[in-house]
Amino acid sequence: TMEDGPVNLREFEEVAKRNLPKMYYDYFSGGAEDQFTLRENVEAFRRIMLRPRILVDVSKIDMSTTLLGYNMSSPILVAPTGSQQLAHPQGELATARAAAACNTIMVLSFSSSYSLEDVASTCNAVRFYQLYVFKRRDVSAALVQRAERNGYKAIVVTVDTPRLGRREADIKNKMIIPRNSNLEGLISVDVDPAGGSKLEAFASETLDPSLSWKDIKWLKSITKLPIMVKGIITAEDARKAVDAGVSGIVVSNHGARQLDYTPPTISVLDEVVKAVSGVVPVLLDGGVRRGTDVFKALALGAKAVMIGRPVVYGLAAKGEHGVRSVIKMLQNELELTMALAGCPAVGDITRNHVMINYERPR
Ligand code: FNR
Repeated sequence: TMEDGPVNLREFEEVAKRNLPKMYYDYFSGGAEDQFTLRENVEAFRRIMLRPRILVDVSKIDMSTTLLGYNMSSPILVAPTGSQQLAHPQGELATARAAAACNTIMVLSFSSSYSLEDVASTCNAVRFYQLYVFKRRDVSAALVQRAERNGYKAIVVTVDTPRLGRREADIKNKMIIPRNSNLEGLISVDVDPAGGSKLEAFASETLDPSLSWKDIKWLKSITKLPIMVKGIITAEDARKAVDAGVSGIVVSNHGARQLDYTPPTISVLDEVVKAVSGVVPVLLDGGVRRGTDVFKALALGAKAVMIGRPVVYGLAAKGEHGVRSVIKMLQNELELTMALAGCPAVGDITRNHVMINYERPR
């Protein structure tokens, strides 16, 4: 039983599943179509082995790192996930407080239940804002300006969503569009759920499928904030992103919710990191559930990782306290991993600390 509470991130999912209506659990947990990539995001980590070094003084472990010049207690960020009020009444406010308490950067989703102003004023912390670019550019521009005014330190533009991926559970459940208070007064969409979930109808009326590289230049022209691009999984696009002048890249397949049969993110990290050759930081998300996963991503060149679903599950399980436990648990696991692998600081974690060609006995 879990009477004493979850002991790892996976167990938070079970608690969340018990606490949530099926429609919402399906929305949070689901992926696109066959959900092949959904399973692979997690499974691919299990094919990487560790090469610990012994007899290194690990009496002090320092997990701290920096991103775009901001200090963090560990290389773990909160990924942008939408509609957190469906998980807990306090939604993004609770997540923001938990992230702040853990000295972790939260990326607020464009599709947040609480407005970016409300999240900004709930507590002081370094936060980033995730943007979807709309057909109506004035809406996107207004959001960027509000993010800037409210102290968000970077814009994370998600580029893997010209259209919404096909999430069959949401279609079956006729998942409704949750309230997005950021858009109140900015747009009104007439939603006709013909043939899809209402989520799809909303997305197809608003997201701009014509978005292209020149729009990254446009984004840069309307804000002083650094722009990170989220949703790159090839070396080709990583090089283009660097050429476009972005300040960071997030290797992500959107938690397997967009294009199914994209490779698991950890399997393409190496190629992206090589293509970027240290010019800008590379982050990774997708399937990070263990401190060893964080360690593996760092060994393969990620500056930090982001966690999506585990945060939502923590929120659904126990609100702010649950999110705090999830982040702390992952941080503690990373700290132990670093000690056992002989890496007192994140900078000590190298490519030689992992082995990617391990063949599992059948
Ligand atoms: C997401 N993700 C996401 N990404 C984004 O850029 N904007 C968004 O609004 C959302 N919303 C969202 C909702 C839910 C319920 C999930 C699960 C995911 C993707 C998210 O930022 C991240 O890429 C993945 O969640 C990472 O994978 P894991 O950690 O969930 O496996």
